[in-house]
Amino acid sequence: MGIKRREFLGLTALGATGALLWQGCSLLRSRNSSPLAAPIPEIYRSEGGSLEINLEARYEDVILGGEPTRNMMTYNGQIPGPRLEVQPGDRLIIHFKNSLDQPTNLHFHGLHLSPEGNQDNVFLHIEPGETFHYELEIHPQQRAGTYWYHPHHHGFVAEQLFQGLAGLIVVRGDLDELPEIRATQEEFFVLQDFNRDRPPQGMMGSHMNLMAGREGNLITVNGLFHPEIAVTKDLVRLRLLNASPSRFYRLQLYGQKLMQIAGDGGAFSQPLERDELLLTPGQRAEVLIKTQDLPKTPIHLLNLPYQRTQMGMMGQQYNNATVAIADFTPSAQTFAPVQIPAQLISVEPLPEPSRTRRFTLNHGMVPGQGMAFLINGEAYRDQPQTTVRLNDVEDWEIVNTGTMDHPFHVHVNGFQVVSRNGVPEENIAWADTVLVRVGETVKIRIAFRDFAGKTVYHCHILDHEDLGMMGQLEILPAS
Ligand code: C2O
Ligand code: CU
Ligand code: CU
Repeated sequence: MGIKRREFLGLTALGATGALLWQGCSLLRSRNSSPLAAPIPEIYRSEGGSLEINLEARYEDVILGGEPTRNMMTYNGQIPGPRLEVQPGDRLIIHFKNSLDQPTNLHFHGLHLSPEGNQDNVFLHIEPGETFHYELEIHPQQRAGTYWYHPHHHGFVAEQLFQGLAGLIVVRGDLDELPEIRATQEEFFVLQDFNRDRPPQGMMGSHMNLMAGREGNLITVNGLFHPEIAVTKDLVRLRLLNASPSRFYRLQLYGQKLMQIAGDGGAFSQPLERDELLLTPGQRAEVLIKTQDLPKTPIHLLNLPYQRTQMGMMGQQYNNATVAIADFTPSAQTFAPVQIPAQLISVEPLPEPSRTRRFTLNHGMVPGQGMAFLINGEAYRDQPQTTVRLNDVEDWEIVNTGTMDHPFHVHVNGFQVVSRNGVPEENIAWADTVLVRVGETVKIRIAFRDFAGKTVYHCHILDHEDLGMMGQLEILPAS
Protein backbone atom coordinates (compact mmCIF):
# COMPACT_ATOMS: atom_id res chain seq x y z
CA MET A 1 0.00 0.00 0.00
CA GLY A 2 3.02 2.21 0.27
CA ILE A 3 2.08 3.93 3.49
CA LYS A 4 5.22 5.37 4.88
CA ARG A 5 5.85 4.47 8.49
CA ARG A 6 5.84 8.04 9.70
CA GLU A 7 2.44 8.61 8.17
CA PHE A 8 1.06 5.49 9.71
CA LEU A 9 2.27 6.60 13.13
CA GLY A 10 0.70 9.99 12.66
CA LEU A 11 -2.58 8.39 11.72
CA THR A 12 -2.97 5.91 14.52
CA ALA A 13 -3.04 8.85 16.88
CA LEU A 14 -5.90 10.41 14.99
CA GLY A 15 -8.62 8.01 16.06
CA ALA A 16 -11.99 8.53 14.47
CA THR A 17 -11.01 11.30 12.11
CA GLY A 18 -7.94 9.39 11.01
CA ALA A 19 -9.61 7.66 8.11
CA LEU A 20 -10.76 10.89 6.63
CA LEU A 21 -7.41 12.45 7.01
CA TRP A 22 -5.61 9.51 5.55
CA GLN A 23 -7.80 9.50 2.47
CA GLY A 24 -7.06 13.14 2.00
CA CYS A 25 -3.36 12.59 2.34
CA SER A 26 -3.04 9.62 0.05
CA LEU A 27 -5.05 11.41 -2.58
CA LEU A 28 -2.77 14.36 -2.31
CA ARG A 29 0.34 12.27 -2.42
CA SER A 30 -0.51 10.46 -5.58
CA ARG A 31 -1.03 13.80 -7.26
CA ASN A 32 2.18 15.03 -5.77
CA SER A 33 4.17 12.20 -7.26
CA SER A 34 4.52 14.31 -10.39
CA PRO A 35 8.16 15.36 -10.79
CA LEU A 36 7.10 18.87 -11.76
CA ALA A 37 7.59 21.60 -9.22
CA ALA A 38 6.04 25.01 -9.30
CA PRO A 39 8.48 27.88 -9.65
CA ILE A 40 9.10 29.68 -6.36
CA PRO A 41 7.57 33.16 -6.62
CA GLU A 42 10.14 35.85 -7.14
CA ILE A 43 10.87 38.13 -4.20
CA TYR A 44 11.55 41.82 -4.70
CA ARG A 45 12.85 43.91 -1.80
CA SER A 46 13.09 47.68 -1.61
CA GLU A 47 16.53 49.22 -1.34
CA GLY A 48 17.46 52.74 -0.28
CA GLY A 49 13.80 53.70 0.16
CA SER A 50 12.34 52.43 -3.08
CA LEU A 51 11.27 49.44 -5.08
CA GLU A 52 10.54 49.64 -8.79
CA ILE A 53 9.21 46.63 -10.67
CA ASN A 54 7.47 45.58 -13.86
CA LEU A 55 4.30 43.63 -13.30
CA GLU A 56 2.34 42.05 -16.13
CA ALA A 57 -1.06 40.40 -15.78
CA ARG A 58 -0.94 37.71 -18.45
CA TYR A 59 -2.09 34.23 -19.41
CA GLU A 60 0.42 31.49 -18.83
CA ASP A 61 0.59 27.71 -18.60
CA VAL A 62 1.80 26.97 -15.08
CA ILE A 63 2.41 24.03 -12.78
CA LEU A 64 -0.33 24.06 -10.19
CA GLY A 65 -0.45 21.44 -7.48
CA GLY A 66 2.17 19.46 -9.42
CA GLU A 67 0.25 19.35 -12.69
CA PRO A 68 0.56 21.44 -15.82
CA THR A 69 -2.40 23.78 -15.97
CA ARG A 70 -3.17 25.72 -19.09
CA ASN A 71 -3.97 29.33 -19.58
CA MET A 72 -4.16 30.61 -16.02
CA MET A 73 -4.06 34.31 -15.18
CA THR A 74 -0.70 35.20 -13.65
CA TYR A 75 1.42 38.11 -12.53
CA ASN A 76 4.72 37.78 -14.41
CA GLY A 77 3.91 34.14 -15.21
CA GLN A 78 3.67 33.07 -11.57
CA ILE A 79 0.98 31.81 -9.19
CA PRO A 80 1.07 33.29 -6.63
CA GLY A 81 2.54 36.50 -8.02
CA PRO A 82 5.90 37.93 -6.93
CA ARG A 83 6.29 38.83 -3.25
CA LEU A 84 7.08 42.49 -2.68
CA GLU A 85 8.86 43.59 0.48
CA VAL A 86 8.95 47.22 1.52
CA GLN A 87 9.41 49.39 4.60
CA PRO A 88 7.37 52.28 6.00
CA GLY A 89 8.14 55.47 4.08
CA ASP A 90 9.26 53.66 0.92
CA ARG A 91 8.15 54.44 -2.61
CA LEU A 92 6.79 51.47 -4.56
CA ILE A 93 6.69 51.94 -8.32
CA ILE A 94 4.88 49.36 -10.43
CA HIS A 95 4.99 49.51 -14.22
CA PHE A 96 1.83 47.56 -14.79
CA LYS A 97 0.72 45.98 -18.05
CA ASN A 98 -2.63 44.35 -18.69
CA SER A 99 -2.13 41.53 -21.19
CA LEU A 100 -5.42 39.85 -20.33
CA ASP A 101 -8.44 40.02 -22.63
CA GLN A 102 -10.55 41.82 -20.00
CA PRO A 103 -10.15 44.98 -17.91
CA THR A 104 -8.31 44.83 -14.59
CA ASN A 105 -6.49 47.01 -12.05
CA LEU A 106 -4.61 46.60 -8.76
CA HIS A 107 -5.73 46.93 -5.15
CA PHE A 108 -3.26 46.95 -2.28
CA HIS A 109 -5.26 45.14 0.38
CA GLY A 110 -4.66 46.37 3.92
CA LEU A 111 -2.22 49.15 3.12
CA HIS A 112 -2.90 52.68 4.35
CA LEU A 113 -2.58 54.47 1.02
CA SER A 114 -4.30 57.27 -0.85
CA PRO A 115 -7.32 55.85 -2.73
CA GLU A 116 -6.81 58.31 -5.57
CA GLY A 117 -4.68 58.88 -8.68
CA ASN A 118 -2.08 56.20 -9.26
CA GLN A 119 -2.18 54.74 -5.76
CA ASP A 120 -4.87 52.43 -4.26
CA ASN A 121 -7.45 53.48 -6.83
CA VAL A 122 -9.96 50.68 -7.43
CA PHE A 123 -11.99 52.77 -9.89
CA LEU A 124 -9.34 52.52 -12.59
CA HIS A 125 -10.19 50.60 -15.74
CA ILE A 126 -6.98 49.30 -17.23
CA GLU A 127 -8.11 47.90 -20.56
CA PRO A 128 -6.54 44.94 -22.41
CA GLY A 129 -3.18 45.97 -23.84
CA GLU A 130 -2.90 49.09 -21.69
CA THR A 131 -0.12 49.97 -19.28
CA PHE A 132 -0.39 51.94 -16.05
CA HIS A 133 2.19 53.53 -13.81
CA TYR A 134 1.44 52.92 -10.13
CA GLU A 135 3.43 54.99 -7.68
CA LEU A 136 2.67 54.18 -4.05
CA GLU A 137 3.93 56.13 -1.09
CA ILE A 138 4.06 53.61 1.72
CA HIS A 139 2.97 55.63 4.75
CA PRO A 140 5.74 56.38 7.28
CA GLN A 141 3.46 54.97 10.02
CA GLN A 142 2.37 51.94 8.02
CA ARG A 143 2.23 49.03 10.46
CA ALA A 144 4.56 46.18 9.64
CA GLY A 145 2.61 43.13 8.51
CA THR A 146 1.37 40.81 5.82
CA TYR A 147 -0.57 42.58 3.07
CA TRP A 148 -1.35 41.69 -0.52
CA TYR A 149 -2.28 42.87 -3.99
CA HIS A 150 -5.03 41.60 -6.25
CA PRO A 151 -7.33 42.84 -9.04
CA HIS A 152 -10.32 44.98 -8.09
CA HIS A 153 -12.22 45.80 -11.27
CA HIS A 154 -15.88 45.50 -10.24
CA GLY A 155 -17.56 42.54 -11.94
CA PHE A 156 -14.28 40.69 -12.68
CA VAL A 157 -12.76 40.29 -9.24
CA ALA A 158 -13.85 36.76 -8.28
CA GLU A 159 -12.99 35.37 -11.72
CA GLN A 160 -9.53 36.97 -11.81
CA LEU A 161 -8.58 35.73 -8.35
CA PHE A 162 -9.94 32.27 -9.13
CA GLN A 163 -7.69 32.18 -12.19
CA GLY A 164 -4.65 32.97 -10.03
CA LEU A 165 -4.10 36.71 -9.64
CA ALA A 166 -2.77 37.53 -6.15
CA GLY A 167 0.57 38.28 -4.51
CA LEU A 168 1.99 39.22 -1.11
CA ILE A 169 3.19 42.62 0.01
CA VAL A 170 5.23 42.41 3.18
CA VAL A 171 5.93 45.53 5.20
CA ARG A 172 9.00 45.02 7.37
CA GLY A 173 9.25 46.86 10.68
CA ASP A 174 9.08 46.65 14.45
CA LEU A 175 7.75 43.08 14.78
CA ASP A 176 10.53 41.78 12.52
CA GLU A 177 13.09 43.42 14.80
CA LEU A 178 12.20 41.53 18.01
CA PRO A 179 15.16 39.24 18.76
CA GLU A 180 12.96 36.12 19.11
CA ILE A 181 11.21 36.89 15.82
CA ARG A 182 14.53 37.47 14.09
CA ALA A 183 15.56 34.00 15.23
CA THR A 184 12.58 32.28 13.60
CA GLN A 185 12.30 30.29 10.39
CA GLU A 186 9.95 32.46 8.36
CA GLU A 187 7.46 30.77 6.01
CA PHE A 188 4.77 32.34 3.88
CA PHE A 189 1.65 30.36 2.90
CA VAL A 190 -0.54 31.84 0.19
CA LEU A 191 -3.74 29.74 0.24
CA GLN A 192 -5.59 29.53 -3.07
CA ASP A 193 -8.14 27.12 -4.47
CA PHE A 194 -8.65 26.33 -8.13
CA ASN A 195 -10.89 24.29 -10.28
CA ARG A 196 -9.23 21.25 -11.77
CA ASP A 197 -11.99 20.54 -14.22
CA ARG A 198 -11.62 23.07 -16.97
CA PRO A 199 -13.26 25.12 -18.14
CA PRO A 200 -14.33 26.45 -14.76
CA GLN A 201 -16.85 28.77 -16.39
CA GLY A 202 -19.12 25.80 -17.04
CA MET A 203 -19.46 25.06 -13.38
CA MET A 204 -19.21 28.73 -12.53
CA GLY A 205 -22.23 29.35 -14.61
CA SER A 206 -24.16 27.34 -12.08
CA HIS A 207 -26.32 29.83 -10.28
CA MET A 208 -25.97 28.20 -6.88
CA ASN A 209 -22.20 28.10 -6.99
CA LEU A 210 -22.05 31.78 -7.86
CA MET A 211 -24.54 32.66 -5.16
CA ALA A 212 -22.64 30.86 -2.42
CA GLY A 213 -19.30 31.99 -3.84
CA ARG A 214 -17.15 29.80 -6.08
CA GLU A 215 -14.84 27.21 -4.58
CA GLY A 216 -12.44 24.94 -6.44
CA ASN A 217 -11.55 21.32 -5.80
CA LEU A 218 -7.78 21.90 -5.64
CA ILE A 219 -6.34 23.62 -2.56
CA THR A 220 -2.82 24.95 -3.00
CA VAL A 221 -0.20 26.44 -0.73
CA ASN A 222 2.06 28.76 -2.76
CA GLY A 223 0.80 26.98 -5.88
CA LEU A 224 1.81 23.58 -4.47
CA PHE A 225 -0.28 20.63 -3.51
CA HIS A 226 0.39 19.58 0.08
CA PRO A 227 4.00 20.79 0.34
CA GLU A 228 6.34 19.45 2.99
CA ILE A 229 8.27 22.08 4.88
CA ALA A 230 11.53 20.97 6.49
CA VAL A 231 11.93 22.52 9.93
CA THR A 232 15.27 24.33 10.33
CA LYS A 233 14.79 26.33 13.54
CA ASP A 234 13.21 25.93 16.95
CA LEU A 235 10.55 28.54 16.16
CA VAL A 236 8.68 28.68 12.86
CA ARG A 237 6.95 31.96 12.00
CA LEU A 238 4.15 31.03 9.65
CA ARG A 239 2.56 33.93 7.78
CA LEU A 240 -0.73 33.04 6.11
CA LEU A 241 -2.86 34.73 3.48
CA ASN A 242 -6.27 33.52 2.30
CA ALA A 243 -6.22 34.59 -1.35
CA SER A 244 -9.18 32.38 -2.35
CA PRO A 245 -12.25 34.15 -3.72
CA SER A 246 -14.72 32.40 -1.38
CA ARG A 247 -13.25 29.48 0.52
CA PHE A 248 -12.79 29.75 4.29
CA TYR A 249 -9.83 27.94 5.85
CA ARG A 250 -10.26 26.52 9.33
CA LEU A 251 -6.72 25.56 10.18
CA GLN A 252 -5.38 23.32 12.88
CA LEU A 253 -1.88 22.07 13.45
CA TYR A 254 -2.49 18.51 14.41
CA GLY A 255 -1.88 18.00 18.10
CA GLN A 256 -0.49 21.48 18.68
CA LYS A 257 -1.73 24.84 19.85
CA LEU A 258 -1.11 27.77 17.56
CA MET A 259 0.36 30.93 19.02
CA GLN A 260 -1.06 33.75 16.96
CA ILE A 261 1.12 36.87 16.98
CA ALA A 262 -0.45 38.98 14.25
CA GLY A 263 -3.65 39.44 12.27
CA ASP A 264 -4.61 41.49 9.22
CA GLY A 265 -3.11 44.74 10.38
CA GLY A 266 0.12 43.60 11.99
CA ALA A 267 1.25 42.48 15.42
CA PHE A 268 -0.91 41.79 18.45
CA SER A 269 0.28 43.21 21.77
CA GLN A 270 0.62 39.66 23.14
CA PRO A 271 0.58 36.21 21.57
CA LEU A 272 -2.82 34.52 21.69
CA GLU A 273 -3.07 30.76 22.09
CA ARG A 274 -5.51 29.16 19.66
CA ASP A 275 -6.72 25.63 19.02
CA GLU A 276 -7.58 26.55 15.46
CA LEU A 277 -7.44 29.52 13.17
CA LEU A 278 -10.29 30.58 10.91
CA LEU A 279 -9.18 32.62 7.90
CA THR A 280 -11.87 34.11 5.69
CA PRO A 281 -11.07 35.33 2.17
CA GLY A 282 -8.80 38.37 2.41
CA GLN A 283 -7.60 37.72 5.95
CA ARG A 284 -4.03 37.18 7.08
CA ALA A 285 -2.50 35.82 10.27
CA GLU A 286 0.87 34.99 11.70
CA VAL A 287 1.47 32.09 14.05
CA LEU A 288 4.52 30.76 15.87
CA ILE A 289 5.15 27.04 16.04
CA LYS A 290 7.53 25.75 18.69
CA THR A 291 9.09 22.86 16.81
CA GLN A 292 11.07 21.43 19.72
CA ASP A 293 7.70 20.42 21.21
CA LEU A 294 6.66 18.55 18.09
CA PRO A 295 6.87 14.80 17.86
CA LYS A 296 9.54 13.67 15.43
CA THR A 297 6.95 12.80 12.81
CA PRO A 298 5.55 15.04 10.09
CA ILE A 299 2.92 17.35 11.50
CA HIS A 300 -0.11 17.99 9.33
CA LEU A 301 -1.54 21.43 8.89
CA LEU A 302 -5.21 20.48 8.64
CA ASN A 303 -8.08 22.29 7.00
CA LEU A 304 -11.27 21.41 8.90
CA PRO A 305 -14.84 21.58 7.56
CA TYR A 306 -16.64 24.88 7.86
CA GLN A 307 -20.26 25.56 6.99
CA ARG A 308 -20.54 29.12 5.73
CA THR A 309 -24.05 29.01 4.32
CA GLN A 310 -27.33 27.86 5.81
CA MET A 311 -29.04 27.07 2.58
CA GLY A 312 -29.60 23.34 2.73
CA MET A 313 -28.29 21.60 -0.39
CA MET A 314 -26.41 24.65 -1.39
CA GLY A 315 -24.41 24.61 1.79
CA GLN A 316 -23.69 20.88 1.54
CA GLN A 317 -21.00 21.18 -1.07
CA TYR A 318 -18.85 23.17 1.32
CA ASN A 319 -19.10 20.70 4.14
CA ASN A 320 -15.79 19.20 3.10
CA ALA A 321 -13.80 16.49 4.76
CA THR A 322 -10.78 17.29 6.86
CA VAL A 323 -7.66 17.37 4.68
CA ALA A 324 -4.01 18.09 5.31
CA ILE A 325 -2.83 21.01 3.20
CA ALA A 326 0.84 20.97 4.22
CA ASP A 327 3.25 19.05 6.44
CA PHE A 328 6.03 20.25 8.70
CA THR A 329 8.80 17.69 8.72
CA PRO A 330 10.90 17.88 11.87
CA SER A 331 14.64 17.58 11.81
CA ALA A 332 16.64 15.00 13.77
CA GLN A 333 18.82 17.91 14.81
CA THR A 334 18.20 19.92 17.96
CA PHE A 335 18.13 23.66 17.53
CA ALA A 336 19.03 26.46 19.91
CA PRO A 337 15.82 27.06 21.89
CA VAL A 338 13.99 30.32 21.25
CA GLN A 339 11.29 31.56 23.64
CA ILE A 340 7.98 32.81 22.36
CA PRO A 341 8.08 36.50 23.31
CA ALA A 342 5.54 37.43 26.03
CA GLN A 343 5.10 40.99 24.69
CA LEU A 344 4.90 41.94 21.05
CA ILE A 345 4.01 45.41 19.73
CA SER A 346 1.55 47.41 21.81
CA VAL A 347 -1.74 48.30 20.12
CA GLU A 348 -3.36 51.62 21.08
CA PRO A 349 -7.14 51.42 21.29
CA LEU A 350 -8.86 53.96 19.02
CA PRO A 351 -10.56 56.93 20.73
CA GLU A 352 -14.34 57.02 21.29
CA PRO A 353 -16.40 57.48 18.12
CA SER A 354 -18.34 60.60 17.19
CA ARG A 355 -21.13 58.58 15.59
CA THR A 356 -22.41 55.08 14.88
CA ARG A 357 -23.66 53.77 11.55
CA ARG A 358 -25.32 50.52 10.69
CA PHE A 359 -24.74 48.31 7.64
CA THR A 360 -27.12 45.43 7.06
CA LEU A 361 -25.91 42.59 4.86
CA ASN A 362 -28.42 40.47 2.99
CA HIS A 363 -29.41 39.37 -0.47
CA GLY A 364 -32.60 39.92 -2.39
CA MET A 365 -34.22 40.59 -5.70
CA VAL A 366 -33.40 43.75 -7.57
CA PRO A 367 -35.87 44.74 -10.32
CA GLY A 368 -34.39 44.13 -13.76
CA GLN A 369 -31.31 42.50 -12.24
CA GLY A 370 -32.53 39.41 -10.42
CA MET A 371 -30.79 38.12 -7.32
CA ALA A 372 -28.29 40.58 -5.88
CA PHE A 373 -26.21 40.93 -2.77
CA LEU A 374 -27.08 44.03 -0.83
CA ILE A 375 -25.82 46.40 1.83
CA ASN A 376 -28.65 48.35 3.48
CA GLY A 377 -30.97 47.08 0.76
CA GLU A 378 -28.88 48.41 -2.12
CA ALA A 379 -26.59 46.81 -4.65
CA TYR A 380 -23.37 48.59 -5.61
CA ARG A 381 -23.60 51.63 -7.85
CA ASP A 382 -21.00 54.20 -8.77
CA GLN A 383 -21.89 56.94 -6.30
CA PRO A 384 -21.11 57.38 -2.59
CA GLN A 385 -23.42 55.49 -0.26
CA THR A 386 -21.50 56.56 2.84
CA THR A 387 -19.85 59.93 3.40
CA VAL A 388 -17.49 60.56 6.30
CA ARG A 389 -15.00 63.25 7.31
CA LEU A 390 -11.25 62.97 7.53
CA ASN A 391 -10.03 62.58 11.15
CA ASP A 392 -13.42 61.40 12.43
CA VAL A 393 -13.69 58.19 14.40
CA GLU A 394 -16.86 56.14 13.84
CA ASP A 395 -18.38 52.89 15.01
CA TRP A 396 -19.88 50.73 12.29
CA GLU A 397 -22.36 48.02 13.24
CA ILE A 398 -22.33 45.30 10.63
CA VAL A 399 -25.50 43.21 10.85
CA ASN A 400 -25.95 39.97 8.93
CA THR A 401 -29.65 39.22 8.41
CA GLY A 402 -29.10 36.76 5.56
CA THR A 403 -28.37 33.05 5.31
CA MET A 404 -24.66 33.15 4.47
CA ASP A 405 -21.58 34.33 6.35
CA HIS A 406 -20.00 37.53 5.01
CA PRO A 407 -16.46 38.74 5.70
CA PHE A 408 -16.69 42.54 5.71
CA HIS A 409 -13.70 44.50 4.40
CA VAL A 410 -12.88 48.22 4.34
CA HIS A 411 -10.20 49.81 2.17
CA VAL A 412 -7.59 52.47 3.08
CA ASN A 413 -8.03 52.57 6.90
CA GLY A 414 -7.75 49.60 9.23
CA PHE A 415 -10.22 49.15 12.06
CA GLN A 416 -10.53 47.55 15.48
CA VAL A 417 -13.29 45.10 16.34
CA VAL A 418 -15.14 46.48 19.38
CA SER A 419 -17.75 43.79 20.02
CA ARG A 420 -19.49 40.76 18.57
CA ASN A 421 -23.19 40.37 19.43
CA GLY A 422 -22.65 42.89 22.20
CA VAL A 423 -19.79 40.96 23.78
CA PRO A 424 -16.72 43.20 23.97
CA GLU A 425 -13.69 41.97 22.05
CA GLU A 426 -10.85 41.17 24.43
CA ASN A 427 -7.96 41.35 22.02
CA ILE A 428 -7.69 44.88 20.64
CA ALA A 429 -5.99 44.44 17.28
CA TRP A 430 -5.86 46.02 13.84
CA ALA A 431 -7.91 44.37 11.13
CA ASP A 432 -9.28 45.17 7.71
CA THR A 433 -11.56 42.16 7.19
CA VAL A 434 -13.93 40.78 9.81
CA LEU A 435 -16.24 37.80 9.66
CA VAL A 436 -19.92 38.54 10.29
CA ARG A 437 -21.66 35.18 10.60
CA VAL A 438 -25.32 34.54 9.94
CA GLY A 439 -27.36 36.39 12.57
CA GLU A 440 -24.40 38.28 14.04
CA THR A 441 -23.85 41.97 14.72
CA VAL A 442 -20.21 42.97 14.75
CA LYS A 443 -19.20 46.47 15.81
CA ILE A 444 -15.98 47.88 14.40
CA ARG A 445 -14.27 51.20 15.18
CA ILE A 446 -12.58 53.05 12.38
CA ALA A 447 -10.63 56.32 12.15
CA PHE A 448 -10.35 58.07 8.79
CA ARG A 449 -6.81 59.32 8.69
CA ASP A 450 -4.49 61.07 6.24
CA PHE A 451 -6.36 60.46 2.97
CA ALA A 452 -9.50 62.05 1.60
CA GLY A 453 -11.15 60.59 -1.49
CA LYS A 454 -13.44 57.82 -2.61
CA THR A 455 -12.96 54.16 -1.88
CA VAL A 456 -15.06 51.07 -1.04
CA TYR A 457 -16.16 48.59 1.62
CA HIS A 458 -17.51 45.16 0.66
CA CYS A 459 -17.95 41.49 1.36
CA HIS A 460 -14.68 39.66 0.60
CA ILE A 461 -16.49 36.64 -0.79
CA LEU A 462 -15.69 38.08 -4.16
CA ASP A 463 -18.71 36.69 -5.98
CA HIS A 464 -20.84 38.55 -3.44
CA GLU A 465 -18.80 41.69 -4.08
CA ASP A 466 -19.16 41.33 -7.87
CA LEU A 467 -22.90 40.71 -7.38
CA GLY A 468 -23.33 43.99 -5.52
CA MET A 469 -22.35 43.59 -1.87
CA MET A 470 -20.14 46.66 -1.96
CA GLY A 471 -20.61 50.30 -1.07
CA GLN A 472 -18.75 53.44 -1.99
CA LEU A 473 -17.18 55.41 0.84
CA GLU A 474 -16.37 59.07 0.35
CA ILE A 475 -13.93 60.58 2.82
CA LEU A 476 -14.37 64.37 2.72
CA PRO A 477 -11.51 66.67 3.64
CA ALA A 478 -11.50 67.79 7.30
CA SER A 479 -13.76 70.80 7.88
CU1 C2O B 1 -8.95 42.41 -0.90
CU2 C2O B 1 -11.58 45.34 -1.80
O1 C2O B 1 -10.26 43.84 -1.36
CU1 CU C 1 -8.89 45.63 0.30
CU1 CU D 1 -20.66 37.74 1.30
